[in-house]
Amino acid sequence: MIVLSLPGSEPLGIGNKLAEELGVREFKVYSKTFPDGETYVRITDVEKLSRDEVLIIQTFYPDQNTRIMEFLLTLDALREVGINEVKAIIPYLAYTRQDKIFLKGEPISIRAILNIFYDLGVREIYTIDVHSPKILEYFKGRLHNIIPSELFAKRLRDMVELDKTLIVAPDEGAKERARLLSKALDTEYVVIKKYRDRVTGEIRHELPKDLYVRGRHVVIVDDIISTGGTLASIARFVRSLGAKEVVAVASHGLFVGNALVKLRNSGISRIILIKTVPPISNPLLEYLDPTKLFVEVIQSRR
Ligand code: R5P
Repeated sequence: MIVLSLPGSEPLGIGNKLAEELGVREFKVYSKTFPDGETYVRITDVEKLSRDEVLIIQTFYPDQNTRIMEFLLTLDALREVGINEVKAIIPYLAYTRQDKIFLKGEPISIRAILNIFYDLGVREIYTIDVHSPKILEYFKGRLHNIIPSELFAKRLRDMVELDKTLIVAPDEGAKERARLLSKALDTEYVVIKKYRDRVTGEIRHELPKDLYVRGRHVVIVDDIISTGGTLASIARFVRSLGAKEVVAVASHGLFVGNALVKLRNSGISRIILIKTVPPISNPLLEYLDPTKLFVEVIQSRR
C-alpha cells in the first residue's frame, strides 16, 4: 500500500502520520489553478509508483468544488498509470446535506458525487461522521463512517462534571450522535425539534418544555458547524435558562463568515472539533486528531 496525499489533506498533517503508522510510503499530488479558474494536478514521482494498493487522502474543504475536482483528476491520472481501483480517506465529505430531495427539481448531490467516484475507481471510502446514515446506501463500494464519540468522550471527561452534564442534539438528525455520546459518558441526552423553511432557509427551534439545565454543563453535539446559527441559538437559549456552561462538540468546523463571533457571543465556552478540515487558530476552538481512528479501521481491513 502507498499513501497519496492531495493538497486538501496537507494542512491536516495526516498523510505523513498515516504513512508512518501504516509503515508505507507517502506520495504527493501537486495542484494549481489556471488563470481562468481550471484545476490542474500532477502526481509527483509517479514513475516510482508501483501497482500497490493506493490510499488517497483528500478532504473536501475549502473549497469543496476545487478539492473534489483535484480528487477526480487524480483518479484519472492514476488510471493513466494502470491503477484502476483505489481506497480513499476523505475526512470531510462535502455535499452530504443534500442527501435527499427537499423540493421538486433538486438533485441528490451526494449520490451523484459518490457515483462519479465509484465510476472512476474508488472502491472504499473512510470518512468521519457523515450527515446521515442514508448516505452509506448511495455508494456502490464500501463506505466506512467513523463516529468519533469515544474521542469526544475522552476529552469531555476531563472538562465537565459528568453528573451535572446534559447532552443536547440540535435536531432529530443528531439524535444518534447524542445517544452515543451520552452512552460513552453515562449522562442524559435530549433532542431539540428543528424546523427549516426550505425556500428561505430560515430555522426555528422548539425546545422541550421541561428542559432542566440550571447549574448544568450543556454539551451540544452536531456533525457540521457552518454559519454557527444552529449552535448559537441553542447556546443562547440554554444559557438564558441558567446553564452553568455550554460546550459544543462537532466533527467538522467550517465556520463560514462571522460564525466564530456569533458563537463566542452566544455564551459557548469551548468548541471541540475533529481535525477534518484545516484548523483555525482561535481560543474558542480545540481540535482532536483523527489519524488513529483511520489507522484502526484500515488495519482491521488489511
Ligand atoms: C444540519 O442538519 C446539520 O446537521 C447542522 O446542524 C448544520 O449544518 C449547522 O449549520 P449552521 O452552523 O449553519 O447552523
